[in-house]
Amino acid sequence: MSVHKKEVKKVTTHVLQEMKRGGEKIAMLTAYDYTSALIVDAAGIDVILVGDSASNVMAGHETTLPITLDQMIYHASSVIRAVNRALVVVDLPFGSYQGNSKEALNSSIRIMKEAGAHAVKLEGGREVVESISRILTAGIPVMGHLGLTPQSIYKFGTYTVRAKEEEEAQRLIDDAHALEKAGCFAIVLEKVPATLAKRVADGLTIPVIGIGAGGGVDGQVLVYHDMVGLTYEFQPRFLRRYLNLYDEIKGAVGRYIGDVKSTDFPNEKESY
Ligand code: KIV
Repeated sequence: MSVHKKEVKKVTTHVLQEMKRGGEKIAMLTAYDYTSALIVDAAGIDVILVGDSASNVMAGHETTLPITLDQMIYHASSVIRAVNRALVVVDLPFGSYQGNSKEALNSSIRIMKEAGAHAVKLEGGREVVESISRILTAGIPVMGHLGLTPQSIYKFGTYTVRAKEEEEAQRLIDDAHALEKAGCFAIVLEKVPATLAKRVADGLTIPVIGIGAGGGVDGQVLVYHDMVGLTYEFQPRFLRRYLNLYDEIKGAVGRYIGDVKSTDFPNEKESY
């Protein structure tokens, strides 16, 4: 037992399934670093996702494709050191699981062993079922991800809403059932029509956590930096900004610069 972490009822994959059964919505946010994870965990978030969106948000890449397994492990281990209560799920990055199921298992084991994560997430439907089964043989919980799957951006070409047509919607429903049957403990559903998302959630026993998927699912996930307004250019319809930290921080930095230049900072009380 850790000596420095307070005893709390930890969120597990089973707790999430009980929440779905009891009709309690699941709140999930991303975090990529110790300080942010400390805040969102203390606020009572249920699930922290160390998303491969770190590739965009932390490293400034245009897509999620460049981030490496080593980099994901670095982000995840920083988050894990901060967390007391939340379930921490880590994205398998592009190229770390698509090759074959053994590669998927090895990458997942590294994430669990080196970062101390609680679960992994991967993108895709029936084409990743074999990998999911193999990862589960090692006792590693797996979260699925359907709808808009950013690692396939070059296949789809755009970040627009997915599965608007019945054929693609039916494929998505079949994929969701395949993921549940394979043993996923939850599924992220990104940017699909709200009616379809509700249909998927109602048809599954595992929780469906939406982003841009309406209110009929079992929980919601947002990127922390978007939610607190640290990013300002990304403005999709589904995003609710709770703060405007970009302007707040820019203003504070401006005041600091002014104080340094005018020799107002540091004053006597701030000096030894
Ligand atoms: O990487 C990420 O942040 C994600 C969420 C958008 C669900 O996968």
